[in-house]
Amino acid sequence: MSPTAPSPKATPPPSRVLPPFVMVIFGASGDLTTRKLVPALFGLQHEAALPADYSIIGFARRPKGDDEFRQEMKAGIDKFSRLRPVDATDWKNFTPKLTYHAGNFDDPAAYASLKKILADLAKTRGLTQHIFYLATSPDYFAPVVQQLAAAGLVGRHLPARVVVEKPFGHDLPSAHQLVTDLHACLDETNLFRIDHYLGKETVQNLLYFRFANSIWEPIWNSNLIDNVQITVAEQEGVGTRGAFYDGVGAMRDMVQNHMMQLLSITAMEPPANLSSQSIHDEKVKVLRSIPTPKVEVVRASTVRAQYEGYRQSDRVNPQSTTETYAALKVQIDNWRWSGVPFYLRTGKALSSRASEIVIVFRRPPAALFRAEFGDLLSRNAMHIRLQPDEGVHLCFNAKQPGRSSVQPVDMEFCYASEFGSYSPEAYERLLGDAIFGDSTLFTRADEVLEAWRIVDSIRQGWQDSPVALYRTGSWGPQEADQMLKADGNHWVDLDARAKV
Ligand code: BG6
Repeated sequence: MSPTAPSPKATPPPSRVLPPFVMVIFGASGDLTTRKLVPALFGLQHEAALPADYSIIGFARRPKGDDEFRQEMKAGIDKFSRLRPVDATDWKNFTPKLTYHAGNFDDPAAYASLKKILADLAKTRGLTQHIFYLATSPDYFAPVVQQLAAAGLVGRHLPARVVVEKPFGHDLPSAHQLVTDLHACLDETNLFRIDHYLGKETVQNLLYFRFANSIWEPIWNSNLIDNVQITVAEQEGVGTRGAFYDGVGAMRDMVQNHMMQLLSITAMEPPANLSSQSIHDEKVKVLRSIPTPKVEVVRASTVRAQYEGYRQSDRVNPQSTTETYAALKVQIDNWRWSGVPFYLRTGKALSSRASEIVIVFRRPPAALFRAEFGDLLSRNAMHIRLQPDEGVHLCFNAKQPGRSSVQPVDMEFCYASEFGSYSPEAYERLLGDAIFGDSTLFTRADEVLEAWRIVDSIRQGWQDSPVALYRTGSWGPQEADQMLKADGNHWVDLDARAKV
């Protein structure tokens, strides 16, 4: 699989024609707008992926002029864009598209004036597709959408789309309520729930990897797979996000969304076609096949832990029991996966940054080699590395030359050497899809609710249990190792891939 020829130049994605649009970003003074959204739109403009005319309107409380807003966005692009240093012509083309609209989220007059601006843009520049991006605190999702509906800017018969950030609710009842509130104002087809993991190239590749090849499907089940391990490890601690993170924790910040999405794409059945609905249908079936964990199961099959020193972090409660690490064993109760544990773990302040799905295959049944080599005979494993060093590695056993000895070796496909360095940010793909109207890489209401069902019952089961501790820079608490040991398994060492 390793490339033998010199790296080919990166090929940009096939172009599609996006309609002339206006994107209104609510929460335009926030971190997300400066770090991700505007740099992503700038990236799309650089790739010539945006239409000839479009408009981006920042909507936030604080009064400021267009020029001040543009300078703030420029500072964000200079700092966070993948296209640094910023090309002067790119910026010159981009800057007139940015304008600012000051208003309170609960003030009908602010929506009335926005409506006038939008009507004017439709009349003078033909910008008729409206996208309202809610980069706000989740508490504002329903109020803002209700105001937009009251102003006649979104509605069940209007083409306007609304994009909401995660988290979608903070538990199952609140997520249910939010679904009801938003569905009262617009159709599910015009509601785009972001999970930025779905915009990552490597996560999208999971679908291609599984279903555009014929060799995996016959082995992608409990006949040959022993267990599946999904890790999203971060090296950074909570940094400056203590105030937000302390009220959320790893389970709600990462497991409810990113990890559940990775799990469902890894485990889903082949969809009938590539339509958004068919893919969502298969993903939600996986989540529905996971039984709601009872308290005993939560005790035996989950771990919550906090890194040492977390409580001393800026704006974190000194007595906090918030988990910065979560590990769980999930059983998918269907024909394909019966008896195959899916081990999920995520945490902050861990040994390294690594997001990886490892498919661990069963040991060879015959004792042919095992009698001779014992534990030296590794299990075959497929590592699907999502970040960094994106690629796929297949570990298998080989004979050492000149010796009757076995050694695990690694066959690898590496994105960068195969495709060059073209790698759009997740938000570029997702914003492009929202403008185009393709909701495949967004989460559907039923998926979000199913994920909350599982996560809520785990969190309830945790209520009376203490939070374990782990060392900063380690691979997590020993309790997580013991959880796998009880099944005769162990976490695959992500630093030394070949030794499974
Ligand atoms: C976000 C979480 O959704 O994902 C953060 O809120 C986390 O806590 C981040 O750090 C990880 O994303 P990525 O793309 O850096 O893996």
